[in-house]
Amino acid sequence: MTQPLTALAEPRPATPADRAGPGPRSLAAFNAEAEFLAPGTQSVALFSRLCIDRGEGVMLYDLDGRRYIDLLAGVGVAALGYAHPKYVAAVQRQVARVHVGSFTSEHRAALVKLIADITPGDLNRTQLYSSGAEAVESAFRLAKSYTGKTEFIGFWGGFHGKTSGVLPLLGSSFKHHLGPLMPGTYSTPYASCERCAFDKTFPSCSWHCVEFLRKKIEVETTNDVAAIIVEPIQGTAGNVIPPPGYLRVLRELADKIGAVLIADEMLTGFGRTGKMFAIEHDGVLPDIMTIGKGFGAGFPMTGVIAREQVAAAKPWANPSGSSSSYGGNPLAAAAARASIETIIEEGLVENSRVVGARMLAEMKTWQREIPIVGEVRGRGLMIGMDLVVPGTNKLIGKDQARWIFDTLLSRGVLAMIYNPEVRINPPLVIREEEALEALAIMKGVLGEAAERVGA
Ligand SMILES: Cc1ncc(COP(=O)(O)O)c(C=O)c1O
Repeated sequence: MTQPLTALAEPRPATPADRAGPGPRSLAAFNAEAEFLAPGTQSVALFSRLCIDRGEGVMLYDLDGRRYIDLLAGVGVAALGYAHPKYVAAVQRQVARVHVGSFTSEHRAALVKLIADITPGDLNRTQLYSSGAEAVESAFRLAKSYTGKTEFIGFWGGFHGKTSGVLPLLGSSFKHHLGPLMPGTYSTPYASCERCAFDKTFPSCSWHCVEFLRKKIEVETTNDVAAIIVEPIQGTAGNVIPPPGYLRVLRELADKIGAVLIADEMLTGFGRTGKMFAIEHDGVLPDIMTIGKGFGAGFPMTGVIAREQVAAAKPWANPSGSSSSYGGNPLAAAAARASIETIIEEGLVENSRVVGARMLAEMKTWQREIPIVGEVRGRGLMIGMDLVVPGTNKLIGKDQARWIFDTLLSRGVLAMIYNPEVRINPPLVIREEEALEALAIMKGVLGEAAERVGA
């Protein structure tokens, strides 16, 4: 049963204190750390200047005891929110028993079987890692091992981590001044229809971007493509959702050129989009899937899941060929097992679908009511929103977005709203009333921002 938004939490008028930013204890801790911490920490941490003391459910509390509704979830990592009792118990129990080693553990045995049970088709073989980029690089090694080919295709707006092997496939200016890049990698426009690189309209474009990629492979590559890697929804680009059927046409293309299709489900996996995996929205089976973030619910745990036949490819499949120091150790396995079991037991995939749909419906009304709100899009609890110059499709400036972030923070909501391509991805445990409370506050701040932008 949905309730009117304003009944839950009327945004209160701004006061000078609202602009105060983090409290004194947070700020003191932040400044003390800043003397020795190397630059380059995540923007949200630097911009907020918060020192987080503890969390519970979807709430975070800073050192000054201020409460924040978290629409960020550590960029999609905190699937279970904070201090989930089952997760806490599983990690505490395991750390007191044994936490290091690549030997079989009961948790890892149960975990890899569980993954095989919930993934579609014959995506049955899992290898485990401790960072997303590391898993993606391993997926590349596996693609080379299986196909005997060497080249890779990624997408504009894509993000797969920051290590050298994935840097060339990072579809943004982030890689500037960090060359030379690994040869044999190519980047092509994503089906980002609201901001089509070719100025076309879907579906009358007849998949122009895919046709372009076909041509690009023919003309630019050495016809030795090992893999096409794609995010089913592009997270870093602003939770951008391609039209239905996109993964299917990429699957067909990969098959045609004898490449594997890698679905990077790091962000979209484990219920984030209202299905267990985002590939299920298109009914497509990739050859390899990379997972992370919500998988370990905060414990650094990532993985490569491959189809039976693919995973057997050598040298990846040789002893120590796909291993790493920390991947799948007993503590990581206990954490990830607790994460997935809780997602299943507590119906969090369904919660993501239902609460996400409610949030999306509310936010879509803003397109009519708040002149700086442009496209709003979403699947489950992965929602994107463009902030635009009123009456245009042009994105507002980062400084204007930053005002929104700061103001929202000062009213107790944390969100990735410091860029004009806003990303909303709260913990999967968020309840409808919590989501709507946060949105009511956000609506008020966006209304004020619209007046400022107008002025
Ligand atoms: C889709 C996707 N793949 C890979 C990564 C890289 O993960 P990590 O930061 O753990 O290396 C990210 C991180 O945001 C991601 O969003």
